[in-house]
Amino acid sequence: MSHDIQALRRIHVDDHHHDRDGILRDVLRGLGATPKRLSSKYFYDARGSALFERICELPEYYLTRVELAIMRDHIGAIANALGPDVRLVEYGSGSGLKTRMLLRSLAAPVAYVPVEISRITLAGSVAALGREFPAIEMLPVCADFTQPITLPRATRAPRQTVVYFPGSTLGNFEPDDALRLLREMRNEAGQGGGILSGGVLIGVDLVKERMAMEAAYNDAAGVTAEFTLNLLVRLNHELGADFNLAGFRHRARWHPLAGRIETHLVSGREQDVHLSGRTFHFAAGEPMLVEYSCKYTLDGFARFAARAGLHVAGVWTDPGQQFSVQWLTCGRDEVRAAIPPMPFDTPAPG
Ligand code: AVJ
Repeated sequence: MSHDIQALRRIHVDDHHHDRDGILRDVLRGLGATPKRLSSKYFYDARGSALFERICELPEYYLTRVELAIMRDHIGAIANALGPDVRLVEYGSGSGLKTRMLLRSLAAPVAYVPVEISRITLAGSVAALGREFPAIEMLPVCADFTQPITLPRATRAPRQTVVYFPGSTLGNFEPDDALRLLREMRNEAGQGGGILSGGVLIGVDLVKERMAMEAAYNDAAGVTAEFTLNLLVRLNHELGADFNLAGFRHRARWHPLAGRIETHLVSGREQDVHLSGRTFHFAAGEPMLVEYSCKYTLDGFARFAARAGLHVAGVWTDPGQQFSVQWLTCGRDEVRAAIPPMPFDTPAPG
C-alpha cells in the first residue's frame, strides 16, 4: 500500500466540505443574482489546481516567486519570531514548498494541521511531509476552511498555535468575509492549545503600479484566462450546465477605490445558459464576477488586522516592496488600544 493511501485513511474528514448539492445551490444563487457572480473557491478542481500551478510559474505572476524569495531570505528571523514547540495550522495546504521551509526552520515543531478541501491534495502533501518530518505529528483535516471547524489537538503540548495562511489567499475574500476569517484564525491561535496565545503568519500582496498588477492577471500566454474559464468547464461537467466556452471571455482589471483586481467572465453576445431546469439570460457584454484579488498597503493591512484583534509584530518584504509576509500576534489589549481606529468604515482595506 502506498504512503498516499495510508495518509488518506488517517485524514479527519469534516462533512461541512462542499458536495454537489451545496455547489449547485450556491451556483444557482449566484446566477440568479444581479449582477451575476460565482465564487472563486470553485476554481480548484484537479484541472484548475494544475492550471494554478502553471500560473505560479508565469513571468507576470510575481506573487509566488516573490513570496518564496522573502521566505528564503528571512526564514531565520521568521522562525525566531514564531518560537519553539509550535502547533502549525495551515489553511489550504497547496503544494507545500513554503510549508517545508517553515517546518525545516522552526525549533521542534509539535504538529502540522493542514486544512484542505481537496482530499487528494491533502493526502499527497501529508504523505510527503510525514516522510520528511517523522517527528512532527501530522493531523490533516479535509474541510472548507471558510466554514467553522474544530481542529485536532496535538498529542505533545505545544507552546503556541500558529496559523499559516500564505499566497495572499485572504485577498480573494470580500472585506467582511476576510475580517471574519482573520477573527477565526485569531481564535484558533488563541485557543488551539499551548501555554501562550500564538499568532498568524500570513502572505499579503501589496498595492503597486497598476500595469504590474493587471499583467499578473492577464498573462500573455493566456493561462489565467484558461484558469478562469475552467470554472465553466467544471460547472458543465459536475452540474450538467451548458455554458458555451466560446461565448465568454476573461477580463481582469484593477479597481483603485476598492483596492483590488476584479476578474469577470464577460458574455460575448446575448445568450441563455441552462442549469437544473432553470434558464439564465446573459446580455451581450454582461460581466459575471468570478474573483477578487485584494492588494493592501502596509498601513491599510495593519489597520485591517487590528479590527480582527491582531497586532502586526513583524513584516518581511522584498527590496521592491511587491509582497509581504507578516507575523500577526493576538496582542495585548493595551497594544491594540494604541492603534488608532479607522476614521470611517471604508469599503475595502488598503
Ligand atoms: C491563489 C488567490 C492568491 O488571487 O492571486 C491567480 C489566484 N487568480 N491568478 C490570486 C489567482 C488568478 C490567486 N490566489
